[in-house]
Formats: sequence, structure tokens, C-alpha cells
Amino acid sequence: MKVTLTEQQGPKISKYIYGHFAEHLGRCIYEGLYVGEDSSIPNVNGMRIDVVEALKNIQIPVLRWPGGCFADEYHWKDGIGPKENRKKIVNTHWGGVTENNHFGTHEFFELTKQLGCEVYVNGNVGSGTVQEMQEWVEYMTMGGESPMANLRRENGQEEPWSVKFFGVGNESWGCGGNMRPEYYADEYRRYQTYVRQYGTEKIYKIACGPNIDDYNWMDKVMQIAAPFMDGISLHHYALTGEWLDKGPATGFKEEHWWSLIKSAQKMDELITKHSTIMDKYDPEKRVGLIVDEWGSWLAVEPGTNPGFLYQQNTIRDAMVAAVTLNIFHKHAERVHMANIAQTVNVLQSMILTEGDQMVKTPSYHVFDLYKVHQDAELVSSYGESDDTVSYTVSKKDGLVSISVCNYSLEESKSLDFTGACSGKVVDARYITADTMDAHNDFDHPETITIKSFEGVSTTDGTVNLTVPPMSVVTVQLEQ
Ligand code: AHR
Repeated sequence: MKVTLTEQQGPKISKYIYGHFAEHLGRCIYEGLYVGEDSSIPNVNGMRIDVVEALKNIQIPVLRWPGGCFADEYHWKDGIGPKENRKKIVNTHWGGVTENNHFGTHEFFELTKQLGCEVYVNGNVGSGTVQEMQEWVEYMTMGGESPMANLRRENGQEEPWSVKFFGVGNESWGCGGNMRPEYYADEYRRYQTYVRQYGTEKIYKIACGPNIDDYNWMDKVMQIAAPFMDGISLHHYALTGEWLDKGPATGFKEEHWWSLIKSAQKMDELITKHSTIMDKYDPEKRVGLIVDEWGSWLAVEPGTNPGFLYQQNTIRDAMVAAVTLNIFHKHAERVHMANIAQTVNVLQSMILTEGDQMVKTPSYHVFDLYKVHQDAELVSSYGESDDTVSYTVSKKDGLVSISVCNYSLEESKSLDFTGACSGKVVDARYITADTMDAHNDFDHPETITIKSFEGVSTTDGTVNLTVPPMSVVTVQLEQ
């Protein structure tokens, strides 16, 4: 397959496309990220050291919290003050378990400080009030004297925090209130008015966008509320079949290798069509499309709580991650942020934990291989295509980075890239597998791990990559 790289100036691939999402769901926050100060699992102020270190290594740029569906039932004042006084509530969406609110606003900012990432807080429209949302923003970001800033100080935080992104409701068409788009759009206009800017930093306000291909939702919300937003969300999960018939994460049939990848590829069509609608109301592309929930949604692991959404993660999920990130790059002009669901122990996670053990999933390794594309310039290309290969090229700091995903099950693929780079290889790494459900578990944590890639050669400025089946490769070359 022959590909020509052009010198044409491309859009910047925002690092926020590599964002993550952590909800109060199953073992994501509790056990996965936060174990509490008194835990025997090594932690700093309650945050697992091993997980924080692993996430820092993939340069996590932003973390979305507290949900998801949980966000529209979350009352932030339940999660501040002395832990022993915090209200115990029922997590109605996710398994009906007791939520003790030990992880609240202060703990979230402690976590993001340790991760060195930006925050994306999702506010409650479904069951919360305008006043509650206004006070939360004041509590977090007000530097001077005010009732909420003083309350924050009483709880031990003198300085205001920085809130870069704020979501006004989540899935307001469903778990966030079952609203119609016209009604939500008006509610959005009202709630966002009180998301005040107390500090010097402008808060990037995100409206609740459509589920999958609900183009009417996008049209109505953009028509009514576009001038009041900076971004609008989109949710699309990759499935193997019907929503109610989720296939297993391991031990699946070959047809479900293909159906999951095909479902992930739908992201391209969704972004294209939603962007076309957005263009009607925002031709300058000021408003970002924020894909703040994406990834594989498969059957839970046998014997685990169905409400906890705990699934294994195989080389097939790595293909989903690479294919989807390539799509986001292609649409970098419109896609300003994306947040894979979810960081630890839930859906397509980066990390799985069991007690004090931790494994990095194949999806984690894709985020590691792809981190070179964060804030890089997209390099446009033309040439042959192959429907079992997906690739992306970017440049940054004098280096050209080529990532290729070969999702065929048996065939090696040969790709020739010409132009826009000198051909001098600086780094070449990949992940691969022998079986389509290869994965890492606590007994075999390194079945899939990043290895040095030998299948690269250069002749007269043409770079050839010979990519084995079921592999994701990143090669960096001097420009
Ligand atoms: O990520 C799990 C759930 O999926 C989220 O809570 C919700 O927003 C979506 O339906």
C-alpha cells in the first residue's frame, strides 16, 4: 500500500483527545484510583501510587468526573468536609451500592494534581438546581471572599482550583433527565449563565450533545444554544451486536472481532454528520465536538456485579482504541477533546486492579504508543487504502510520527510512506498478539506489552513498514 505525505499545514491534534473519564461506578474510583489514606495499598493521600504513576506515563491530559449518569444524581456538598460526617447515599445507577462520599471535590483535585492533568467537572442538571451548580463553581474557583470560597477554606483549601472544562448535564436525553432537545437547550442556556468565571481563566462550557446518531438532538441544541457553549458532547460506544446482547470480552467468535471494529469505525460517520450539522450554526468551527464517552462496551466478566461494568481488555480493544484515535485525528479541527470510558476497572479501561495488584491493558499500550501525537500537527496524506489497515501521521518538534493499526487476523501488511520526512528512524515500537483475544491478567501481566519494532526500513526517503496482523505500530522519523 503506497501513501504520499503532503507538506500541507494540518490542524493541531489537541492533547485533550487523549483524555479519560472516571465515574463513581463499580471499582473505578474506589479501589481503582482511591484506596484511602489508611489502606495497606501504597498510596499518597489515598491515591494509589501504582495507578497514578502508570497514568502519568501515558501523559493523561484531562480527567472527567464524577460521571456519567452518576453526575446527575451527585450533590457535591455531600462530598466535602470531614469524611466521617459525609452523607452515605445509594448509587442508584450502578449496582445500588452505598456511596460514602469519601472521594469528593477535594479528593478529585488531589488526584488531578498528582496526575498533573486538567480537570473536567460534570455538573448536575437532572436532579440538581441552578443554585447548586453555581455554588459548586464558586466553591472551586472563587479566590476572594465569598460564602463558598470561605467554606472551601474551612475545609482546608486556601487557594481556588482551576477548572478548565465544565459539563452542564450528562445524557440529558436519558439518565440525565429524559429531556427533549428543545427543553434541554433552554435549560442549558439558564444553567450555564451561572457557571461564572471567578478567576482569570475562562471555563470551557460543554453542553450535553447527542447519543450516537441522534442528529435531531444535535440540530436543535445547536440552533437554540450554540452561542452559549464552547463544546457539545457526543457519546458512542463500540458494541459487538445489539445494545442488549453484549458479547463477551474474551473467548469471542471471529465475527465479533469484525463487528466490534466496525462499530468503532462508525465514529467517523457520526463525527462527519454531526459536524455538518454544527457547521450550519457554527461555520467558524468555534464549538468543539467533545466525545466524552467512547470505547468498547462488552459483557461483564462472569461472576462480577453486572452494575459494575468490569470487562477484560484484549488486543481487539487495542484495535478499537487505535482505529478511534486515528478517526479523532482526522477530525482534529472539530474534535477538541475525547474521554475514553473508563480509566480503571470499568468498560475499556487502561488499568485493571485486584487488591494491590495492577495490570496495564492492551488499550493502555495504545495510549502509550500514541502519546507522541498529543498536540502534534496532523500530516495529511493520500494514496492507496486497505480496509483492514488504519493509519495516522503527525509531526512535532522536528519528528514525524507514523502509527499504523493492522487489524487483519492473518495477513501482514506492507505500507510505503513517501514525502515529508527524511527517512531517518528515531524510534519504532509496537504491540502484537498471536490470538485474537490475547490479554493481560494478574498471572500474566505482560502477554501484551510494547516491544521494539524491527519491520521498518527506508530507501531514498520512502519508509516501508511491514506490520504483522493484530498489531499497532508507531515509528518516529526525523523530518
Ligand atoms: O460509562 C458508563 C455510562 O454510559 C455513563 O454513566 C453514561 O453517561 C453512559 O450511558
